[in-house]
Amino acid sequence: MEALKEIVTPLLKWYDGHARVLPWREEPSPYRVWVSEIMLQQTRVEAVKPYFERFIKELPDIRALAEAPEDRLMKLWEGLGYYNRVRNMQKAAKELTGEYGGEMPADFERILKLPGIGSYTAGAIASIAFGIPRPAVDGNVLRVLSRVQKSYEDIMKQSVRKSFEEQVRAVIPKDRAGDFNQSLIELGAIVCVPNGAPKCGECPLKEQCRARAGGVELELPKKTPPKKRRIEERTILVLLSDNKAALKKRPPKGLLAGLYELPNLEGRYESQEMLNYVKELGLSPIRIQPLPEAKHIFSHIEWHMAGYAVKIEEPEEEPEGFFFVEKAQMEEKYSIPAAFGAYTEYFKHRF
Ligand code: ADE
Ligand code: SF4
Repeated sequence: MEALKEIVTPLLKWYDGHARVLPWREEPSPYRVWVSEIMLQQTRVEAVKPYFERFIKELPDIRALAEAPEDRLMKLWEGLGYYNRVRNMQKAAKELTGEYGGEMPADFERILKLPGIGSYTAGAIASIAFGIPRPAVDGNVLRVLSRVQKSYEDIMKQSVRKSFEEQVRAVIPKDRAGDFNQSLIELGAIVCVPNGAPKCGECPLKEQCRARAGGVELELPKKTPPKKRRIEERTILVLLSDNKAALKKRPPKGLLAGLYELPNLEGRYESQEMLNYVKELGLSPIRIQPLPEAKHIFSHIEWHMAGYAVKIEEPEEEPEGFFFVEKAQMEEKYSIPAAFGAYTEYFKHRF
């Protein structure tokens, strides 16, 4: 594959005139770059902005992140999904607080060893916050480079990603490493876009781009389709007394580890079976109402859900593992994963 040298100057020039003004670009401290990059792995720029501002306001530095109570942390992340990412950030923040007094070291190899930080994120922090000339190759960059070079190699392969990283590393300008990485990301986000046709007419690389020359930009990048997700049937229970609703805490390992959830059972159940289950918990159901079905897609699993609202007498005792929470406190204090979003709204209903 040929050298990427020819793209550096036009890309930087374009970036100077077209880069979006973004909160983490205004003040690219290591902590702000880190938080933004983790959020941006799962969510669009526009959607990230308010989460970013709120997170930084409440947890303004690495030390504050290290010390944040778990429930607050989950609440700040609510809506972004992939909660393990923020858990790993907190682990990393604890390491940094212990070893470096709460600062990120200006050392690519050390950053790469932190929990939850792979070569992309380490490269982004190193280059954007410290000016260290390391590549930051994410999906945007892989798309741009595949097209510019007319490469039909499968970008899902680790070896292919590595090879693109090496090519970027060979040309990354030492005095503008962060800008160069961001120019590639930015081009992929707003010009050489993933869905629909890339805007080649306004692209600073239109002269250099081999995919465009060959008219094959829509065929690239080449990606093996991901494995099919496993489908899991679940029945969700909205368990309500007069002013309280039931939550459980999920186990500390696995899917949605340690988060609160609505009571639920694997499999599909009829009304009568759910009433029996509620009684077996030692609760006294008053009435039951079936709720609409819902679906939630995780990275490797899909939940296909049925649900019931069950009105119960004020419980004398909480069944093992259940918490009855004042409905008024629910929003404010408890982070309930989006997977249950179709059912949490029934907390508000009277029935
Ligand atoms: N997506 C991932 N990283 C980004 C960044 N630094 N700026 C804009 N979009 C991004
Ligand atoms: Fe992407 Fe088109 Fe630019 Fe090539 S010319 S990099 S396909 S936007």
